[in-house]
Amino acid sequence: MPSTNNVRHVCLVFLAVCGLMLGTRLGFLERWMSGRAAALAAAVKAHFRAQRDSYYGAPLWKFAPTNLYRTFVKSEETIHMIISELMEEAMSRTTGAAQDDGMREIFLNILSNPELDARDKKAAVIDFITAGIETLANSLVFLLYLLSGRPDWQERIRSELPVSKRLELEDLSAATSIRDATKEAFRLLPTAPFLARLLDKPMTLAGHRLPAGTFVLAHTGAACRREENFRRAREYLPERWAGGFEPHSPGLVAPFGRGRRMCPGKRFVELELHLLLAKIMQQWRVEFDGELDIQFDFLLSPKSPVSLRLVEW
Ligand code: HEM
Repeated sequence: MPSTNNVRHVCLVFLAVCGLMLGTRLGFLERWMSGRAAALAAAVKAHFRAQRDSYYGAPLWKFAPTNLYRTFVKSEETIHMIISELMEEAMSRTTGAAQDDGMREIFLNILSNPELDARDKKAAVIDFITAGIETLANSLVFLLYLLSGRPDWQERIRSELPVSKRLELEDLSAATSIRDATKEAFRLLPTAPFLARLLDKPMTLAGHRLPAGTFVLAHTGAACRREENFRRAREYLPERWAGGFEPHSPGLVAPFGRGRRMCPGKRFVELELHLLLAKIMQQWRVEFDGELDIQFDFLLSPKSPVSLRLVEW
């Protein structure tokens, strides 16, 4: 009866996101994982918290180097240092070596492109890794937690998967219960519960005239919890996605944003979550005692380490 917790989720997600970004099979990373993953995860968390406090608190940091400002800078430096190390290792490891991994085409080609400025390349990789770790780890915890309250849906997922351990892409596409479970988790507990935009031109919203430069937050997460938008809005009901639950406003579920600035990690994340869930459900059911405490860390995050039980079927 293994149990799983946040640190392991973050490590798993760290491996997956770095694998995507640095294009490697990650054997080299695993030896180094625990120390660096934990330091990076902690720095990313501190960074998100400092962002939250600078958005919503008194902006004293604009006038003096407050504690908040120092935390922000320190976390940014740690993130920068660890990811720089990983990038240099990825670059030196692959110089001249043939990579069998298709992901190389995406990121290492960007990193080794002499026409791009080195600082821009590094900043892009840092952005991707920091944007990907905490979001994906939280989403996985929320999904498993919500499913722990729906043993019947877990049975359903299992029944849609092949009995053998081997999983093909078609098996994932055929298992609609996995897709519905994930979508419903994103509706009820979206780790990014709002979208932010700075207006580049004036606009009128619900009768309010907003000048260019206004900072606008669209609280999609709050809208998804309103009865006028979703029937039994506060319940985790994956079955609503098969139809028959009115009102139902799927357009409000925007966990990855919308438009030009939409999350570039969306496809990767969906595949990763579907695959992880399928692999888990093939072998175990998930249990959790009590209610999960959630806090707003700029992202929605579990308040403390989460212990979920994975019980052999
Ligand atoms: C469950 C996981 C994730 C969630 C919920 C999520 C959500 C979001 C959201 C809501 C945005 C803002 C979109 C907008 O304003 O319209 C965003 C932006 C972004 N995400 Fe993700 N994300 C996730 C994972 C990832 C991963 C794995 C990566 C990279 C591998 C990533 C990279 C980025 C980047 C670089 C941006 C900024 C895009 C821009 O400003 O143009 N995200 N994400």
